[in-house]
Formats: sequence, structure tokens, C-alpha cells
Amino acid sequence: MRIALIPGDGIGPEVVGQARSALARASEVFGLGIEMETLDLGAERYLRTGETLPEASFERLRDGFDAILLGALGDPRVPDNAHARDILLGLRFRLDLYVNLRPVRLLHEAHSPLRDVRAGDIDLLIVRENTEGVYAGLGGTLRAGTPGEIAVEEDLNTHHGVDRIVRAAFELARARGRARVTLADKANAMRHAGALWRRVFEDVGSRYPDIDREAWYVDALAMDLVLHPRRYDVIVASNLFGDILSDVAAALVGGLGLAPSANYAPGGRALFEPVHGSAPDLAGTGRANPFAAILTAALLLEHHGHAAAAAAIRDAVEGAVSAGETTPDLGGTLGTEEAGRRVADRIDSNRA
Ligand code: NAD
Ligand code: IPM
Ligand code: MN
Repeated sequence: MRIALIPGDGIGPEVVGQARSALARASEVFGLGIEMETLDLGAERYLRTGETLPEASFERLRDGFDAILLGALGDPRVPDNAHARDILLGLRFRLDLYVNLRPVRLLHEAHSPLRDVRAGDIDLLIVRENTEGVYAGLGGTLRAGTPGEIAVEEDLNTHHGVDRIVRAAFELARARGRARVTLADKANAMRHAGALWRRVFEDVGSRYPDIDREAWYVDALAMDLVLHPRRYDVIVASNLFGDILSDVAAALVGGLGLAPSANYAPGGRALFEPVHGSAPDLAGTGRANPFAAILTAALLLEHHGHAAAAAAIRDAVEGAVSAGETTPDLGGTLGTEEAGRRVADRIDSNRA
């Protein structure tokens, strides 16, 4: 199994280093024969050479690997985020990775800012559309820099795109024994997109009579997620709403330091990354939480059929969390490397 590593910017390389150790350890214990190769893509290269995602790198990422593991992209020296758009959004769009799956599970009650929730009480999947919406880049600017400036950012929603992400949400619900799919939209204000999403949600949902469905306005849903997180199983949303809801939901279970994600086309290519960004405020301090990246490595293995190895990595993270062997964001005193080492040392095959 060949994995491309794109450590990227800021804390990206620090956390990917620990995900790499966990993958190497899992490979050894479970005999997976994983090979990893690091690709130099990110702000440093962009600032050095002007290159973001050279065509040759794109083709290698498309054809030369079984999976991609990315750290984070974003650097204060690139204020318009040009390189991140080309590399991260470029890979999502050009590889047509239309499902952005963001599982959210409470591992330890001490990590939630909410009262009276126990480990496992919050356990939901955010299924974010990943190739359309306001991320499509349709729009433009007129009279830039003048008081008459006009900025248009179009929200692209196709029947094809909505249909396939809603199906993916119901399929995931069924495969994982989940009772309900919740649609997040803004059909009261964005009526054209809303009408399409609601109609497709009804059409597709009616073919899954075993699964309940409900549509919420995203503002009310953001509130209810905080008030009643236990009642949610699968949430399906457009690109932007899914982006926002995934940070809200992550906060309920311990924050971005624990939030993994997978970008994929069912049966096709896949890219795995923690939900968090490059955290310029933490970069270089050695305090970034590597668990989101390590849990992302578990998602990668699970996606490629190595369920036991994935479970062993998750168990190892839960073991470290229960023992309080964590970085400061989770109340611990360990640095990135030491927290990562405690997880790698716990990965064994005596479970699952
Ligand atoms: P961020 O996720 O980098 O940071 C938000 C907050 O969470 C910060 O306080 C940060 O310290 C904290 N945090 C994030 N990851 C953490 C970790 N592993 N351990 C402990 N604390 C952690 O979001 P931001 O500050 O809005 O963005 C910074 C840069 O990252 C921007 O350039 C943004 O565009 C980019 N970004 C990239 C990705 C990606 O590559 N997938 C995702 C989000 C943001
Ligand atoms: C994420 C990030 C990205 C997004 C940014 C960096 C463009 O926030 O992966 O959640 O909005 O998709
Ligand atoms: Mn985000």
C-alpha cells in the first residue's frame, strides 16, 4: 500500500510526523507493507518557486498512490491562500472527491464543554458536499478597491452533485446502522438551492424507508447541535454549511485536535486530512495535538479495508486519552512528539 504524505504548512508537518509513526507501527504489527513518500507541496515551495500543484505532482498523486494523507495548508505569508486553493481544493475538485466525511465522537466526558455528556453520547457523521457550492470559484470582482466595488460569489448546486451526496449520506447511515439523516440547508433564504436540496432529499430519502429523515435550517441546527448533540446520527450539508458545522461539532467533543476527515469518491480516489488547519499560533511550539492526524490515519486504513489496524489505532488514542497522556488543549502536559509516541507504543494486535 503506497501512501503520499503532504505535510504542508504550520503544524501540518508536526502532526503528520506522528500520524506517520502510527501508520508505520500499524504496518509492522499487522503486516500491511505500507510505503510512505513525502511530497514537497505547500507555502515554502510556493514562496520559493511560485509553484502550487505542478501538473507532474498532480498526476503522481492521481496515479501513483493508493491514498493521500495531508497535514494542513495555510500560511500568513500567503494571505490570499492561493497555494491552498490549488493544492487542497484542487485535489478535492480535480479528483472529484465529492464526499467529505467528518466523524465526530466523544472519547472522554472531560473533553466536552457541555454538561452531563458521557463518552460515546455524541457520535455523529457529518457528510459534507465537497465539489460544489460557494467553493466552486464562480464569480468575480468589478471596480476593485473603489467604493463601488462589487464582489460576486456564486453558490453552485447541481442535481447531479446534490443527488450523489444525499445518496452517500443515506448509504453511510444504512451501512453503519444509523437511524436518521438530517439535512442542513437555508431553504428559507436561499430558495433556489433550497428547493433543489429539499426535493432531492425527499426523493432519495423515500427510497430508504428504514432511515428517518428531517430537514433543518442550518442556523437552528447549529444551535440544536450544541443543545441536543445526542440526537444526531448523520448530517448532510452543502460545502460551506458542512465546513462550519464540522468545527462546531468538533468543539463539542474536545476540539479540532481530535477531529479527523476523509475526502473520497466512493470506489475512487481518497485524501485524508485532519479537520484543523495549520494553526499558525501553535506552529513551532511543539504543542499541537497530533491525535486528529493519527485518527485520520485510522480513517485511511479503515477506508482501505484494514479495519483491525484502524481499530487498534483508535484504541491506542483512547488509551492515551484515558491515561491523560495528552497535549495542553486536552488538559495534558505532553508535547506533540511525546503524545504521538504514547499512541504508537500502544498500537498492538491483541484487540479487535
Ligand atoms: P486552525 O484550525 O488552524 O486553528 C483554529 C484554532 O484551533 C487555533 O486556535 C489553533 O491553535 C487550534 N488548533 C488547530 N489545530 C490544533 C491542534 N492540532 N492542536 C491544538 N490546537 C489546534 O484554523 P485557522 O486559524 O482558521 O486557520 C489557520 C490556517 O489554516 C489558515 O490559513 C486556514 O486557511 C488554514 N486551514 C487549512 C485547513 C486544511 O488544510 N485542511 C483547514 C482549516 C484551515
Ligand atoms: C477545511 C478547511 C478548508 C475548507 C479551507 C482551508 C479552504 O477549512 O478543510 O475544513 O474550507 O474546506
Ligand atoms: Mn474548515
